[in-house]
Amino acid sequence: MRVVVGISGGIAAYKAALAIRELVKAGHDVHVVPTASALRFIGRPTLEALSRNPVTDEVFDDVAAVRHVALGQSADLIVILPATANTLAKLAHGLADDLLGTTVLASRAPLVIAPAMHTEMWEQPAVQANVRALAERGATIVGPVAGALTGADEGFGRMAEPADVVAAALEAAGRHSGALAGRSVVVSAGGTREPIDPVRFLGNRSSGAMGVALASAARAAGASVTLVGANLHVPVPSGVELVEVETTAQLREAMLERASADVVVMAAAVADYRVRGAVDEKRSKESWGEAPTIELELNPDILAELAGLPREGLLVGFGAETEADDDALVERGRAKLARKGADLLVLNRVGHDEGFGAVDTRVRVLDADGVVADASGQKASVARVIIECVAQRLASAGEEHQ
Ligand SMILES: Cc1cc2nc3c(=O)[nH]c(=O)nc-3n(C[C@H](O)[C@H](O)[C@H](O)COP(=O)(O)O)c2cc1C
Repeated sequence: MRVVVGISGGIAAYKAALAIRELVKAGHDVHVVPTASALRFIGRPTLEALSRNPVTDEVFDDVAAVRHVALGQSADLIVILPATANTLAKLAHGLADDLLGTTVLASRAPLVIAPAMHTEMWEQPAVQANVRALAERGATIVGPVAGALTGADEGFGRMAEPADVVAAALEAAGRHSGALAGRSVVVSAGGTREPIDPVRFLGNRSSGAMGVALASAARAAGASVTLVGANLHVPVPSGVELVEVETTAQLREAMLERASADVVVMAAAVADYRVRGAVDEKRSKESWGEAPTIELELNPDILAELAGLPREGLLVGFGAETEADDDALVERGRAKLARKGADLLVLNRVGHDEGFGAVDTRVRVLDADGVVADASGQKASVARVIIECVAQRLASAGEEHQ
């Protein structure tokens, strides 16, 4: 993706270097457009070395390349950090008296702005009106946050952390043109708990990390995402709607309500059984006796139920198997896919040291014809591969309908 990084003349300008480095590391083609004031805070050599592209603030440099519009026209994303009160005012009023101004006006790309200034400046009605105007026109405003300001001051107005600005910027770009832009995705994640009494439950070792990584990847690809989370042990990504559930019955209800989404992913580890005769009062040794037995009854099969509904969207199931042999694992997966009636099945092997809670994982994505993807590594990167499979499948289904 071609990213224009605008920098204006605030004390936080040096932090733009971190954002540039992160974007370049992620494989983006980064072009830096500083204001003249920004170049008094951070040197051009730093910006050129980090971005690996020439840097100028001059509208009248390299005129044959019509630089004043070319950069904006070719940008997939513009992120301005820090944005001074002055630059906010200029952007809000459409001024184009420098290269950053012409670049923003010549672009249809998503615009992400991270303001930074002293609290008194930030609270000025003029500054607030400018920020509101930009937000109303579709710009994403990130921060500011509270913290240390220039000198000895502290307060609201500090620029959001560069990593947070980059994350918000990539998310905005995904919403605009990602492979799942305009799609709705529902992901179940975590492990359900089946109560024995008000304080005890039968549960499983799922942390929810894989489902959360999928929700995050779907969000980054532009989807509006709902995460139906059962007892998650990991934080929920920003921009994802969370519906909290505890039991399989609650998870089932939440998923059936949202079954018409474009993509439904059942990544949660759902208890196959619930406790028969769970009680509302805590069991004690006296009431339960010396060798109590817990009787179980079958829970509904939510994936099969979802597959049985009339639907136009894509249904993705997960299979966690302990099968050691690779071929046998895939065979089990194919049988499961056929039995459940989902469109895709993500198959992973779990054991005491694999799968649950682990950062690294290996999965195969199967459709009715066999393995369509094989991915291993961190759950975040594996999740991206799975979401790519989903997007490809949706795109080819769209072509078939045309
Ligand atoms: C040391 C120093 C720090 C500054 N920090 C900020 C700041 O954080 N935010 C801001 O809005 N202006 C800040 N300014 C003022 C801007 O540099 C000034 O308004 C300038 O005209 C901004 O130009 P630009 O928006 O074209 O980059 C600072 C000025 C100095 C000298």
